[in-house]
Amino acid sequence: MRNYIIEDLPHYYEQYKKSIKNPKKFWDGIADKNFVWYQRWNKVVKYDMDKAKITWFKNAKLNITKNCLDRHLSIRGEKTAIIWEPNDPQEKSQHISYSELYRRVNKTANVLKEMGIKKGDRVCIYLPMIPELAVVMLACAKLGAVHSVIFAGFSAAAVASRVNDCGAKMMITSDGSYRGSKILDLKSIIDEALEQCQTVEHVLVVKRTDNKVNMQEGRDFWMEGLFEKTSADFVTQIMDAEDPLFILYTSGSTGKPKGMLHTCAGYMVYTGYTFKNVFNYQENDVYWCTADIGWITGHSYILYGPLINGATTVIFEGIPTYPEPDRFWEIIEKHKVTQFYTAPTAIRSLAKESADWVDKHDLSSLRVIGSVGEPINDEAWHWFNDHVGRKKCPIVDTWWQTETGGIMISPIPFVTPTKPTYATLPLPGVQPVLMDDKRNEITGNQVTGNLCIRFPWPGIARTIWGDHQRYKETYFTAFPGKYFTGDGALRDEVGYYRITGRVDDVVIVSGHNLGTAPIEDSINEHPAVAESAIVGFPHDIKGSALYGFVILKESGESRQKENLKKEINQLISDQIGPIAKLDKIQFVSGLPKTRSGKIMRRILRKIAEGDLSNFGDISTLLNPEIVEEIKIERI
Ligand code: PRX
Repeated sequence: MRNYIIEDLPHYYEQYKKSIKNPKKFWDGIADKNFVWYQRWNKVVKYDMDKAKITWFKNAKLNITKNCLDRHLSIRGEKTAIIWEPNDPQEKSQHISYSELYRRVNKTANVLKEMGIKKGDRVCIYLPMIPELAVVMLACAKLGAVHSVIFAGFSAAAVASRVNDCGAKMMITSDGSYRGSKILDLKSIIDEALEQCQTVEHVLVVKRTDNKVNMQEGRDFWMEGLFEKTSADFVTQIMDAEDPLFILYTSGSTGKPKGMLHTCAGYMVYTGYTFKNVFNYQENDVYWCTADIGWITGHSYILYGPLINGATTVIFEGIPTYPEPDRFWEIIEKHKVTQFYTAPTAIRSLAKESADWVDKHDLSSLRVIGSVGEPINDEAWHWFNDHVGRKKCPIVDTWWQTETGGIMISPIPFVTPTKPTYATLPLPGVQPVLMDDKRNEITGNQVTGNLCIRFPWPGIARTIWGDHQRYKETYFTAFPGKYFTGDGALRDEVGYYRITGRVDDVVIVSGHNLGTAPIEDSINEHPAVAESAIVGFPHDIKGSALYGFVILKESGESRQKENLKKEINQLISDQIGPIAKLDKIQFVSGLPKTRSGKIMRRILRKIAEGDLSNFGDISTLLNPEIVEEIKIERI
């Protein structure tokens, strides 16, 4: 990022001011100096927030893979692009160089082309975290097909609804997936899903686990066989700036999934710029993001952002607790990881284990550690800081969304002083505003409100696939003229932002607005508590009251549990006020979570309300069985 590396705090403020005063000039400079284009744009940005129409770098011609691969070949062709760490630590890890990745992408693009895939066709991908996943995504981008990765843990019904929504012509999957000690049979899930889909013509199957699968004559083909036969030369498709790059369905919990559409140029510029600055990436670093590529974090910060910057990016196939709960720390030590980017849910679950698991490893290679996906509570922040960063690594608490394409609010390491639980300051080009419920902007500091963004940034999703009206209504109508994030935020006395959680998680108790996230924070500080979730339920006198679902570190006797309830409420009372005390506390052994680790509050709300039927589709949960348990033990 020539000329766009943020060096210190005054430089940040200077860059920030420039980016707000003249966003066109700011992004024009970044795009011009740091990317390769076939043809320049003739307009940097054009937008109409009321119609939700946004374009960046209009009429530019490019291909993102030229920027991820080709341009690195002469200077870092032999450098490792991907370190692949398999599920089983006994299996050898792979180091794939930029030139080897380029070769594999070309051959795979030829396979897709020979199978009839053309520019604009949708290709669904249902693969484990293996190198082929990165390769097929890049191959789609290279030939101009629109990839839609479906997290390889979704049920057949969830896969089918996504395939049908985007009208995919091809599905790419594998014979199986290793996750910890389990083998998941991905191919039969695809077979079942495709019974309900008419548009898929071919299924390409990557070999991974060698378990027996059904191959449907004429429809299903082994990738390996086709790959071996094709040429390693491929002529890159020239894409328009606003041509679709990918569709990614949000883990949105209600109704039809939303296929967020990202386009070529803006997404490339935004992920490239944010990756470099937020992770302070230097040429010989080894960067590791633990997300699954099936989520936006994986798209932007395992694949595209790092490769645009010529980085070495780790792809890990397994889970944090296999074979032991120190797998993450072992991998950091093994590959001398310099940037480690993970989620609060993972931090909390590993913090539950004895600290010896982490303390015994040499993590001295780490320079920057990061968190994403949900508010990081105080306890988890400190554990991460003390045991993983060893008080030497800045924590980048990065706030963003599938819809934003890239990181929006985050500390810049070694530049922005961090503050526990705060995502701190907006990145250049990002203009957060807090709005009250009457649609007035809340100015000044030490205020809270609905978090909106005033001006478009290059990474913003352009539409919901096939449903622009829904896109407009979801994001641009609640606060006209602005993008509404659905989150609440607090702006402190120096202008730092703290994301307080989804605004739909606010519960009004006796006329007081209570955010559930800060209450959970204080409960989680109780030494016996591992995790908690608070929801509202109707109350005759207070309007709403609070119901807490609490996971204990160890299950205790019922007598102790009664005491614990009192202690938890005392803690809340001390830290927030008696108004925030919980009316009901249910001890549970787990919380219903989406595959990306988010608590499905919708289900908890229904249980708290006593509406025990019609939970909707819970098959996409990480742990659907927990719902029954919580339901039975409801207070
Ligand atoms: O509520 C915010 C929360 O995750 C939501 C976006 O979820 P998703 O589209 O799945 O993308 C997750 C990965 C980017 C946001 O609306 N969220 C994300 N990051 C943070 C966060 N909440 C608090 N702090 C964060 N750092």
